[in-house]
Amino acid sequence: MATPQFDLIIVGGGPGGYVAAIRAAQLGMSAACVEKEKSLGGTCLRIGCIPSKALLDSSELYAQAQHHFATHGILADNVRLDLAAMLKRKDKVVKTLTGGVASLLKKNKVTRLLGAGVIAAPGRVDVVGEDAGSYTAKHIIVATGSQPIELPFMPFDGARIVDSTAALSFPEVPKRLLVVGGGAIGLELGSVWSRLGSKVLVVEALDRLVPGMDAELADELKKVLEKQGIAIQLGAKVKGAKIAGSVVNLDIEGADGNTTTQQADRVLVAVGRRAFTAGLGLEKLGVQCDERGRIVVDERFQSTVPGIYAIGDVIAGPMLAHKAEEDGIACVELLAGHAGHVNYDFVPGVVYTWPELASVGLTEAAARERFGDVCIGRFPFMGNGRARAAEEKDGLVKIVAD
Ligand code: NAI
Repeated sequence: MATPQFDLIIVGGGPGGYVAAIRAAQLGMSAACVEKEKSLGGTCLRIGCIPSKALLDSSELYAQAQHHFATHGILADNVRLDLAAMLKRKDKVVKTLTGGVASLLKKNKVTRLLGAGVIAAPGRVDVVGEDAGSYTAKHIIVATGSQPIELPFMPFDGARIVDSTAALSFPEVPKRLLVVGGGAIGLELGSVWSRLGSKVLVVEALDRLVPGMDAELADELKKVLEKQGIAIQLGAKVKGAKIAGSVVNLDIEGADGNTTTQQADRVLVAVGRRAFTAGLGLEKLGVQCDERGRIVVDERFQSTVPGIYAIGDVIAGPMLAHKAEEDGIACVELLAGHAGHVNYDFVPGVVYTWPELASVGLTEAAARERFGDVCIGRFPFMGNGRARAAEEKDGLVKIVAD
């Protein structure tokens, strides 16, 4: 075999991939990052965390001005929404940050290859697209992320029944928005459009919201969101959806087993994401995936095929940008002969509703399962002077200790 062109090729330019590429360059490796989209940053920067947080902040300011300024003795009459300007600001934030990633790769001398990467063999990545060609490397990292799960009976049409990407750019505030799934995406984007004036209904199959988080805090969040005007139906499932012109008619089976019909102008389906591995050629190489399509890796992030590694949403663990970054750093440091490890018990999580639901460490249920009896401490914001001064009395701090 000819001398590899690179020490490392990373397929995917999201938070996992671009951070791994930079870390590799810092450790003296020659690195290339293959990304099929023109802008770098992956789901998080382009169509996920960043644009949604931009809208969460803008919509929160709008809600504050409308409903809470007067409590502080500020009279802002005639507060109006310029949705086009709000969306434009979000797009500008995304553009600045994705451009920043491109500069970072350049500064660190990472080769950026524009196109879709196919792993032709261990040590060889073929790129289809602008930088088409066959590239070789000692190691390959797959960092291709995840994509929204589609419900088979209500496929995304990009306009009425949409995924989180389209829900970042509705051209007008939908009068009625139905959200399928009460996870982080459903509650964050549901909050955005509710604050901007939509009548939002969240339909969640389980008997609670945000399943990965502490159940007591999730219940508390439900109460607060309902107070803000978001309707939430737990233990309910959408059974069918029909688009009729500019509306969608949905059949919803409630917790009592009865089916009712709801009409919505837009429907956001946010029922989770799945690992994105299509077109990489993994099957042919014998790279093993688990029952949920995630690449199986060992403690060094190596797949079942030597020389091919995987990090981030495409492997097990929480689907979070900062977890992908940590995976990437640990994987590259191990390749460079250093120590590297990520403890998935300590990945912080935040659902950016208002108030935010933030946690680090084990939930009460997980701690009880692992340690039996645990100590619980709670303190409500209602009794906290700083919270009262800020007019933010909803919620509590909860500490679970061994
Ligand atoms: P999720 O897995 O967090 O929540 C999906 C929800 O949909 C679950 O509660 C599930 O019970 C429910 N569900 C599934 N099928 C359903 C059905 N047919 N009808 C009604 N409900 C149904 O997934 P989500 O919100 O789509 O987010 C995807 C991933 O992205 C997650 O891993 C999430 O943690 C991550 N993410 C994290 C954010 C943050 O940390 N702030 C923000 C956005 C996404």
